[in-house]
Amino acid sequence: MARRLTPSDLQTLLDRAAAAPRVLAADDLADLLAIPAGDDEALRTLHAAARAVKLRCCGRGIAMRGLVEAGNACAKDCYYCGIRRSNAALARYALDAEEIVRLAHVAADLGYASLVIQSGETESPAHTAFIEDVLRRIAPLDLGVTLSLGEQTEETYRRWRAAGATRYLLRIETSSPALYAKLHPPTHSWERRVECLRALRRCGYQVGTGVMCALPGQTPLDLARDIRFFADIDADMLGMGPYIPHPDTPLAAEAAAAGWSAPAALTLGLNLVAVARLHLHDVNIAAATALQALAPDGRERGILAGANVLMPNITDVRYRRGYQLYANKPCLDENASLCRGCLEARLATIGESPSYGTRSDSPHFHARTAPHPPA
Ligand code: 5AD
Ligand code: FES
Repeated sequence: MARRLTPSDLQTLLDRAAAAPRVLAADDLADLLAIPAGDDEALRTLHAAARAVKLRCCGRGIAMRGLVEAGNACAKDCYYCGIRRSNAALARYALDAEEIVRLAHVAADLGYASLVIQSGETESPAHTAFIEDVLRRIAPLDLGVTLSLGEQTEETYRRWRAAGATRYLLRIETSSPALYAKLHPPTHSWERRVECLRALRRCGYQVGTGVMCALPGQTPLDLARDIRFFADIDADMLGMGPYIPHPDTPLAAEAAAAGWSAPAALTLGLNLVAVARLHLHDVNIAAATALQALAPDGRERGILAGANVLMPNITDVRYRRGYQLYANKPCLDENASLCRGCLEARLATIGESPSYGTRSDSPHFHARTAPHPPA
């Protein structure tokens, strides 16, 4: 069980974490993660400490990535995910290469110097070649390109890297093999996912991973171990957000019984961002859209808790209803330029602004690949 921290215990932990990365034990991380909704003073202190580390390690400004949801066909059957293979209620779509290239231009025109191409999981020679072709066609735009296309062979990762992708996001979903086994059918392998993360590293990507929180059966200690897993795998980027039940999925009933309230899930999501920032310091951390599904200002609060990346959706609105991983997905009806204005206004309310025209690579990646000699 996580301890309830006194104000002075809390301050001691935060001072230690802010002074150097990766110093807290799993129990300490769990105590911080478990600060509950309603303990406003402690939450404010935790989130402000994380934001101070963000400002010191990543600077002011929010890195922007245009998100393209390239297709919702998925070979996987994760029990929580709205686009799982067995969801027969869903019409499947796939953008063609021209549409993805067009969206890359939209991103560039909006000043988003980075693009994320995400879709359900498909492994086939044709799909590998399709993505490779798209990457070669957008290369002249000189964007930072992140892929989020699931588990693939090392050979496929290598080809996509050679064709111009520099970053890859593959959430581990949970670092606990036992919890992973409860959230996925037996055909899905936690070990393969870890092996994919290692393969991505070998191929020279900036590697992003992450987890969901507020999962049925998950404890603060599980999440603390997730953060230590990110350190062990030496992640460059993190995407983490609360699990939000989707009605057409097997996990929804269990989730209702587990009884996470929206405020509790939101607080846990914000604490996860804050504690990951305090433990890892210089990684890029996205304020997940799932935070906004739980509160209209959820993503801004993610930034106030230490996140430094936003991924506004630039997919044409006619496809967006097809890409609902969870219920209540926000921004279903906003096109890319409205989204940009809306985000600018939202960021202004917290004294932040988007960093246009810069790719904003992970500072951790640079430190890892080009370390400065000791002074
Ligand atoms: N609620 C929140 N996040 C979800 N994801 C999938 N389904 C859900 C859900 N119901 C997340 C997973 C996946 C990412 C693309 O979206 O973590 O890796
Ligand atoms: Fe598509 Fe999990 S359902 S990757």
